[in-house]
Amino acid sequence: MKNILILPGDGIGPEIMAEAVKVLNVANDKFDLGVELSHDDLGGAAYDRYGVPLADETLERARVADAILLGAVGGPKWDTIDPALRPERGLLKIRSQLGLFGNLRPALLYPQLAAASTLKPEVVSGLDILIVRELTGGIYFGQPRERKVLDNGERMAYDTLPYSESEVRRIAKVAFDMAMVRNKKLCSVDKANVLASSQLWREVVEEVARDYPEVELSHMYVDNAAMQLVRAPKQFDVIVTDNMFGDILSDQASMLTGSIGMLPSASLDAGNKGMYEPCHGSAPDIAGQGVANPLATILSVSMMLRYSFNEVAAADAIEQAVSLVLDQGLRTGDIMAEGCQKVGTVQMGDAVVAALKNL
Ligand code: NAD
Ligand code: IPM
Ligand code: MN
Repeated sequence: MKNILILPGDGIGPEIMAEAVKVLNVANDKFDLGVELSHDDLGGAAYDRYGVPLADETLERARVADAILLGAVGGPKWDTIDPALRPERGLLKIRSQLGLFGNLRPALLYPQLAAASTLKPEVVSGLDILIVRELTGGIYFGQPRERKVLDNGERMAYDTLPYSESEVRRIAKVAFDMAMVRNKKLCSVDKANVLASSQLWREVVEEVARDYPEVELSHMYVDNAAMQLVRAPKQFDVIVTDNMFGDILSDQASMLTGSIGMLPSASLDAGNKGMYEPCHGSAPDIAGQGVANPLATILSVSMMLRYSFNEVAAADAIEQAVSLVLDQGLRTGDIMAEGCQKVGTVQMGDAVVAALKNL
């Protein structure tokens, strides 16, 4: 049995999750996956139900699950509560408590969507980048962090950006391993011209590189990387970077693929355990309207089958079904283009289900 915990979350989370679960159920029948689903709340939904964004019992369920599928968390309803109880804190806690340090964010342009990108088709056509983001360290978790009032009455706050060499080494290994099964090119992105943590990062990545002589390693400052990503994104194969830079660069890279609604992710521990979620958030501006793009979540199901369960045929089939639906010209609003048919969240999910059944 494959025990999968479903956490729909907030905003568009439940809408996109319903479609992803439909697809997962069809894949389960078709490929005899032996999937068993359980459901719980995370984020704002958990705060409303349990008074905390991640309840102990939910964390325990996540610990015993083989994999977790997450929608998205957060929203204006919870933006003004005690910061320690914000929905996002639940997400950070589950990542940290489960040791999900390796975040894979593939930015792949489906050729059918070349016109949906805000960049020229020739800049993005054939794009296939993997961003490997460190997910349980750095400025997101660094201590001390504090907000206080100075003697002169001024408010001040600070965060800390720490990395230990073991934290850098393990994420670098993930990135080099990924580069080995792709195009053997790795770009490590940092701010080593300014930050001590980045100087250590660069040193350790160089050390790890000695075990991967076939991989061509380069280093780039994050400001230049942001520019290069829109100037000539196809120069990249695998990018490895820290928690915050990876957060920002992956949203930026998503627009190369047409929409943030297309970017799935895997957050992995040192073994096969993983949490899978779209890179986007709870999109409060479109929540409840039935217009959100469910493909990032559906593609996250594919990543789950690939990385946690090694169900390669089923994972490939879901990706193929998504591609077939795009061939049919069906588009949610975020990827809409001339001559295509605009559909809602449910219709898009139904179309992927139909395509998958017919494969
Ligand atoms: P967002 O990703 O939710 O939305 C940014 C823009 O992209 C919005 O215009 C939204 O409508 C659009 N968008 C996002 N997903 C889409 C989809 N599937 N289909 C179509 N359009 C889509 O980012 P935000 O507005 O900065 O954040 C909103 C909330 O989500 C905040 O509370 C934030 O903390 C949270 N958030 C959560 C996660 C997560 O759970 N992993 C990730 C990012 C942001
Ligand atoms: C993401 C999100 C989260 C992050 C937030 C909601 C904590 O933006 O998954 O990309 O910054 O990691
Ligand atoms: Mn983000």
